[in-house]
Amino acid sequence: MAPAPRRPLISGNWKMHHNHFEAISLVQKLQYILNDEDHDAVDVSVHPPFTDLRSVQTVIEADDLPIALGAQHCHWEDKGAFTGEVSPAFLAKLNVTYVIAGHSERRELFGETDDMVNRKAKAILAHGMTPILCCGETLEEREAGATDQKVSGQVRAALDGIDAEAVSGLVIAYEPIWAIGTGRTASADDAQAVCATVRSVVAEVAGADAAQSVRIQYGGSVKAANAVELMGQPDIDGALVGGASLVAEDFAGIVRFHQG
Ligand code: 13P
Repeated sequence: MAPAPRRPLISGNWKMHHNHFEAISLVQKLQYILNDEDHDAVDVSVHPPFTDLRSVQTVIEADDLPIALGAQHCHWEDKGAFTGEVSPAFLAKLNVTYVIAGHSERRELFGETDDMVNRKAKAILAHGMTPILCCGETLEEREAGATDQKVSGQVRAALDGIDAEAVSGLVIAYEPIWAIGTGRTASADDAQAVCATVRSVVAEVAGADAAQSVRIQYGGSVKAANAVELMGQPDIDGALVGGASLVAEDFAGIVRFHQG
């Protein structure tokens, strides 16, 4: 039997943008623009700042919107003396579906390690949510020919000790650091090559079935203008979008890649 096709997932990582009023307005605009055909073809998630989550949840649930709520980060413990941190249990209570773990900004600016990303991935799964595990190389690493080594190491570490069935349902986002917020996008061929490497690492650690099912996003200056080509690659199943997810029309333009 042929394996089920992977449903594309387009995720908007708002980073530290939009207060809760702006968040409500953006989700309402998005829903106004997106139609049933879009939702039939593509899964969509939005990842507002923590302070917006409850407001956005209320809008999504009041209108039964087919948009998944996402978070940008969490701690791996359920509770405790961790000033400023947010528990995965609290996110689950808000009906959060996806949680980003190991974004390069968390790794580079806030010292998140591979081990922390692995613990978070397990905690997110334990609460019935789906991790979006990020990986990606710096420009120096790319120029030194170390991209595959860096990305493979990050993926292996993130998946360590997670069983194959759980791996098959999660999402991995390949985000070359030099392409984030710079307007520089990896060429579709380069992005495809690294995403194929990611899938082969998943096959190695969790088996062929998990590798076939896991969804791999590309992130880094994705826009409507480059989305069709990127999403057309065999190992790219979606996009993790920063800047272009902050404006409803721009984000909807990316979701509409499915129209070709
Ligand atoms: P940009 O789309 O702004 O490059 O950001 C990508 C990103 O980091 C999404 O997580």
